[in-house]
Amino acid sequence: QWIYLNGEFVEKDKALVSVYDHGFLYGDGIFEGIRVYNGNIFKCKEHLDRLYDSAKSIMLDIPLSFGDMQNVLVESIRKNELRDGYIRLVVSRGPGDLGLDPRRSPKANVIIIVEQLAIYPEEAYLNGLKTVSVSTRRNIPDALNPKIKSLNYLNNILVKIQANLAGVGEAIMLNSQGYVAEGSSDNIFIVKRGVVYTPPCYVGALEGITRAAIIEICQKVGYPVKEEPFTLHDVYVADEVFFTGTAAEVIAVREVDARIIGSGAAGPITTHLLKEFRSVVE
Ligand code: PDD
Repeated sequence: QWIYLNGEFVEKDKALVSVYDHGFLYGDGIFEGIRVYNGNIFKCKEHLDRLYDSAKSIMLDIPLSFGDMQNVLVESIRKNELRDGYIRLVVSRGPGDLGLDPRRSPKANVIIIVEQLAIYPEEAYLNGLKTVSVSTRRNIPDALNPKIKSLNYLNNILVKIQANLAGVGEAIMLNSQGYVAEGSSDNIFIVKRGVVYTPPCYVGALEGITRAAIIEICQKVGYPVKEEPFTLHDVYVADEVFFTGTAAEVIAVREVDARIIGSGAAGPITTHLLKEFRSVVE
């Protein structure tokens, strides 16, 4: 397995960065998770747009042009002979001193890891996941803007810990006003009376690329889709609930806080959207 590290491909156990990297010391950096289907990078431009926007927002200089980054991604999958898998692209502020000041970290670290993906078993896509809501709250734009896909994932890790304690694979995070934001690493959708809803990103959700793809598919196949804030009550009484994300694709939810959703398995619209999504990517 070859890891891209600042312009070179190095073997996995030789891909090392400094303990002074501010990505490590402070979570100062950004990342993307990207899928490869049949040797093609899915929504490469969208992921890189989000990466470069995140970088601009936190004043992080990525030492590669957009075009060079695209080429390096392609080279990474070629070098690893990957047809289907996952790319983790990380840009950290780079090594500095122990202070916060990013001016002391003049050289960002750029890392590309290409791997096979551990996804949910196919059974989960049919039967749906059990999930719970958790007490950890999502940052909303008065703190770190959720549009920035930063290395500060402690909120999400706390959600994951709460999910683990509840024995479920993904959990639902609210924002500080009690509106449903997203999962630990997935966006959330609900379906009620044939209408598909997802929270607007200002509620505290990442502007997910799978989310955007699903909104587009809804419009194409004729499901009304609305970006509207909603509460846990709306989730409990929804006909269908599902998560979307690069790793998860479209995964149904069958139970939320011990309330059975719909028939207790993947609903018809969720199933249809997953099928359409897979026909787009494969
Ligand atoms: N997840 N929300 C959060 C907090 C995320 O970390 C992710 C991505 C998503 C879904 O976004 P997208 O559809 O662009 O992947 C939502 C990880 C990194 C992943 O699924 O790979």
